[in-house]
Amino acid sequence: MRVWLLSQFHDFHIALLDDVQVDFWSKDDVMVSPSRQESFQRQLNEMDVAWEISIDNVQTVVQEEKESLQGESRSLSRDKFHSYQEMKDYLQELAKLYSNTVSVGSIGSSYEGRDLPILKISSGGDDTRPIILIDAGIHAREWIAPAMALYIIQQLVENPSNADLIANVDWHVIPLLNPDGYEYSRKSSRLWRKTRSKTKRKGCFGVDGNRNFDIHWNGIGGSTDPCSETYVGPRPFSEPETAALRDYVMKQLTKSGSRIKLYLTFHSYASGILYPWGYTWSQAPNANTMKALAQEANLAQKRAGGHDFTVGQTARVFYAAAGGSDDWVASAGRVPLVYTVEMPRGGNWGFDLPPSAINRTVSAFWPAVRVMGRHVQRS
Ligand code: ARG
Ligand code: ZN
Repeated sequence: MRVWLLSQFHDFHIALLDDVQVDFWSKDDVMVSPSRQESFQRQLNEMDVAWEISIDNVQTVVQEEKESLQGESRSLSRDKFHSYQEMKDYLQELAKLYSNTVSVGSIGSSYEGRDLPILKISSGGDDTRPIILIDAGIHAREWIAPAMALYIIQQLVENPSNADLIANVDWHVIPLLNPDGYEYSRKSSRLWRKTRSKTKRKGCFGVDGNRNFDIHWNGIGGSTDPCSETYVGPRPFSEPETAALRDYVMKQLTKSGSRIKLYLTFHSYASGILYPWGYTWSQAPNANTMKALAQEANLAQKRAGGHDFTVGQTARVFYAAAGGSDDWVASAGRVPLVYTVEMPRGGNWGFDLPPSAINRTVSAFWPAVRVMGRHVQRS
């Protein structure tokens, strides 16, 4: 009897293989679309095939699994500084899990050929909404900067209570702009700052990326000596990493101005929220707006247990240095709100914040990012 049933079922099986509404997971587990369910059950009964429903709604189960996986993706821990590869894997993972809102792209390649990933978060709007652009890690040894960028990504993507921030604004995050230097600082020389390109001087490598932008390039605060930590490079945008950022920013320019409304570039370790200009003492046209917002952001993060950050114009509260990404992005009306954020110091030298301090440092600054995000949303 049983054999008969099976052989009957076998013919039945063959007959159903072409039916797109019937999906055989195994020889006796079948998924049937809701519209086909009634006729399918009738067919089974006519052929005396015993059956039972084991999953009433597959979609629910798929969703539950997805949610449990989302829990796992929070596994990008904050108890260590991650490698370039770990960061990349995490971004890919997010793009897979949150394919409706998250995508990973590339703005170019580093000198050593590493791809420069950009994570884009958008809840809709077909690439017409304002963009908040964030980068980190142009200076290799400032490890807490990419950690901050990754934390911002985690908050925006994985924490539903920040959904308001992505409701009508797109966030584009380049968590590691100088991966060659970063990996070099992990494997060979902890205090490496520059890129890793060859220079005309034997034995001296790399350009200071934050002196390589075409804004009063090779002016104040940089060096033409390839062995210097602030080497400006042979020409503006000589580095593939800075040229990639330039090209990306230029692509966001539309007839009605730039889509980018706010640019944050993360460094360490001077605890500062700094706005242009860095190359001159003169004030930027919207210095007052930038100052007020920075002060508001500073207050918010202080209330969350953060340090008191220095707020002010770079050249005035810090030192003057030309060729920075912040000044270039702010110039020619490319972006109205621009900040260099210097994360707090830690460890023995300032750059070597112990891993145990990562979580409290990045989470303390998050409220400042929220304030800035809300500001862009409202304007
Ligand atoms: N510590 C950063 C540097 O020296 C600060 C950059 C501020 N911006 C500027 N355009 N100077 O590169
Ligand atoms: Zn820096």
